[in-house]
Amino acid sequence: MVYLPKLHLQLRNRILRDLFRLPIFKVPADRSYEAAIEQHNNQLPILSENDFSVVETLRREGICFTSLEALGLASTEKVMKAVAKILPNLKPASPSQKNQFIVHADPAEIIKYPALFLWGLEERLLDIGENYLGLPLAYHGVYFRKDLANAVKIKSRLWHIDVEDRRMFKVIVYLDDVTEDAGPMEYVPKFFTSSLYKALKYHYGYVADEKMEAVIPRSNWRSCAGLSGTVVFLDPTSIFHRGKVPLNSDRFTLFFDYTSRQPKHPFYCKSCLPEADLRLLSKNFSQRQKECVFWRSGTRRG
Ligand SMILES: [Fe+2]
Repeated sequence: MVYLPKLHLQLRNRILRDLFRLPIFKVPADRSYEAAIEQHNNQLPILSENDFSVVETLRREGICFTSLEALGLASTEKVMKAVAKILPNLKPASPSQKNQFIVHADPAEIIKYPALFLWGLEERLLDIGENYLGLPLAYHGVYFRKDLANAVKIKSRLWHIDVEDRRMFKVIVYLDDVTEDAGPMEYVPKFFTSSLYKALKYHYGYVADEKMEAVIPRSNWRSCAGLSGTVVFLDPTSIFHRGKVPLNSDRFTLFFDYTSRQPKHPFYCKSCLPEADLRLLSKNFSQRQKECVFWRSGTRRG
């Protein structure tokens, strides 16, 4: 693999992204995606009534709220134990990085507590995600985030739509109460998405509050404030969203990320852990879990 400096990488991704918008690439890629969805339609996992309604809500609204308690996944207790161990080891903000607004747990910490990564591979979550995307999932892993209470207002703290794939599936777990002042995610209901694309002439990138407010009043913005243990299922390609700046306390969350295995922009997809660590972790994975993690190498179901 060729490693490029960050700036070169951003430039390369932008060039590729613009190339992928050209009809010569876009039309066949979209056709192949639609065909894959149609082909997979009768292979989708069967869902319980409750999980089916999660998928329906996601389709209708782009977002669905539940809780760890309501989900009742067997490995949640192990995850919470891992969280308690990792939390004190999260690094403080670096004084040399003026624009820093997130601290992520070190991959070395994540690998020490496999339950954290494995929670995102719980069969039920895979079933919900697969039904929502209509395709087998690629799992990009878990991010343990501390969103810093500071005034930095760049990147994901501005309004945007995620670009990795045509549809995405994210599961966000609140590790603390996320009050209005603790940086809850905000979004504009899905009903407005297509008119916002037009009004903002939006393709990619970030939109400042003033510009957003000029096309949709703040009274239509929605907040995702919630108690510790809240779980948010989200398709960040379907609704304009942003992290509100936390005013008086840092925000602690887990983000579990998924796309299809033929994402629109594969060059934007990256795993939370290096390949060698994934190999170590995967020793006891089921065939399906392996396929979700090593999707780039095209592992086949056994
Ligand atoms: Fe986003």
